[in-house]
Formats: sequence, C-alpha cells, structure tokens
Amino acid sequence: MSNVIRKAVFPVGGLGTRFLPATKASPKEMLPIVDKPLIQYAAEEAIAAGCDQLIFVTGRGKRAIADHFDVSFELEMELEAAEKWERLKQVRNILPSHVSAVFIRQPRPLGLGHAVLCARPVVGEEPFAVLLADDLIDGNDKPALAQMVDLFASRGESVIAVEEVDPAETDKYGIVSTEAMDAQTGRITAIVEKPKPDVAPSNLAVVGRYILTPRIFSLLEHTPRGAGGEIQLTDAIAELLHEQGVFAYRYRGKRYDCGSKLGYLMANVEYAMKHPEVAEGFCRYLKEFPGCNFDGE
Ligand code: UTP
Repeated sequence: MSNVIRKAVFPVGGLGTRFLPATKASPKEMLPIVDKPLIQYAAEEAIAAGCDQLIFVTGRGKRAIADHFDVSFELEMELEAAEKWERLKQVRNILPSHVSAVFIRQPRPLGLGHAVLCARPVVGEEPFAVLLADDLIDGNDKPALAQMVDLFASRGESVIAVEEVDPAETDKYGIVSTEAMDAQTGRITAIVEKPKPDVAPSNLAVVGRYILTPRIFSLLEHTPRGAGGEIQLTDAIAELLHEQGVFAYRYRGKRYDCGSKLGYLMANVEYAMKHPEVAEGFCRYLKEFPGCNFDGE
C-alpha cells in the first residue's frame, strides 16, 4: 500500500439542523467565513496536503456545492464584460487545473460512517483523507491535514486529529484513549462516540480530519447503527483498532466548530481581523463597539 494520500472525501450529506432556518434550502458547508464558503477552506486544505481528487458525498439540497466547484460561464462572461479581472480570477481559481472533483450521492443521511462508505467506489483500495468542512482549522505553520499526511508518510497507519475539550462536553464528540502520548502523537487504545462525561475514557476528542486505510470500508459495511441511530465512523474505527494501529494526532493550529453558531461567529470575527480587504475597518469597528458588556447575568 502506498503512503501517499491523493484522495480526499468530504461528507456533506448532513442536515445541518443546528443552523436552521439558514440550512433549510442551502447547505451549511456553503456558509461563508467572511467571503469564502466553509467547503472551499476544506478543499484548499486538502489540495495543500497534496490531494488531487476531491470526492464530495452529498445529500438532498446540496446542489449549491457542485455548482460552486463547477465553471460558471454566465458569471465569467459578465465579469469579463465589466473588466472585473480580480473578481474573475477569484471565480476561475476555485480549483487548480490538476485537481478533479467527483460528486456522489448519499441517498439518505444515515450517518457519517455511511457517508464515508458511499465514497468507496471512487476511493478504491488506497488510503484516503476525510475532512469535515464544519471543523475549520487554521494551521499554525502548516495546514492540519498536511501535518497528518507527513505522519502517515512516515508511519503508514491511520491518523485521526484530536484535541482536548471541556470534560463536561465529551458527549458532543468521539472520544479516544491512547497509550502514552509524546507532544503530538499516541496510539489509540479505545474510541467511543459521544460518551457522557462520567464514563468518558478521557477528554481527548476527535475533530474532523482523518487519514484512513481502505480496510475501514469493509468494516463500515457491517457497522450497525450506533449513537443517535446513525452509522458512526467512530464505531468502525473501534473495530479497525483490533486489526491495525491508529494514531491520535494533536495538530498545531486552532479549530473553529462552525457547525455551532458560536464557533461560526468566532471564526468570522477572527478571519475578518486578518482579511486584507476588511481587517483595518473591522478592527477599528470592534475597538469602538460599545455593546460588549455582557456579564452573564
Ligand atoms: P453533524 O453531526 O455535524 O450533523 O455531522 P449535521 O447534520 O451536519 O449537523 P446538525 O448536527 O444537524 O446541525 C458531522 C459531519 O458528517 C456529515 C455532515 O455533513 C458533517 O460534515 N454527515 C453526517 C454526512 O455526510 N451524512 C450523514 O448522514 C450525517
């Protein structure tokens, strides 16, 4: 098996109920952080890590994602006629020419594990990456997936991104326990989906970046419905642990949980403060903004 990761799977078949009504007719992955949709940040991260085939597992009402990565002739013609060259460059360069995009339909939202299984015919027998676009990660020195690809290249075993979370919130995440970790990596000994804080094996939570060996597909085929009645990727990884090593990897960077309103708003504020077009005006606005005196009462 090669240790090179060329294929990235983006499960975007979820219902996004926490963002209703915004997500009634348009996908949560198209929500913008300043001016770029979440799914484009994730695609750029995969490309920066060396992936050249992007596989989107979509569901009902997700056509906007396919349209976003497709060529928009009408828009390009309008921008050309208006001589808006900078804007034209932005819509033309959504994907570099060496990268292809494939769209697969998840017939029903049966869970993240099921969504990953839907990608099997395109991924085949190679190791691959999975990125959940609602976990937006601003890597410190290197994008998070590229850091994981480096680890996979040297170890050849599956890698899952983790971070420490508030122990009271373990029931929102997949939680792992590991052998002794060095600063960033450790072999996973157990993984469980959304455990209550009193039974959670740790507060080390899985975040939305994975590098998986293709063995996961055969395990997903037999994974029964788990937490929330969904076919959970976590449960298949728990099975994988009996056969292969799986590393937990503490990435360098900051994650924004853009599947939640608060995380989404935080990402917008912090990305706006760094955005070349609006940073100055936005920071000035925040400095002078008088309304932030909420004291929790
Ligand atoms: P979430 O647990 O965030 O669910 O899924 P959701 O439906 O997207 O959002 P809420 O909780 O209702 O607001 C985690 C990831 O798994 C994908 C989602 O698109 C998201 O990236 N997913 C989930 C699928 O692709 N298919 C599914 O059947 C379920």
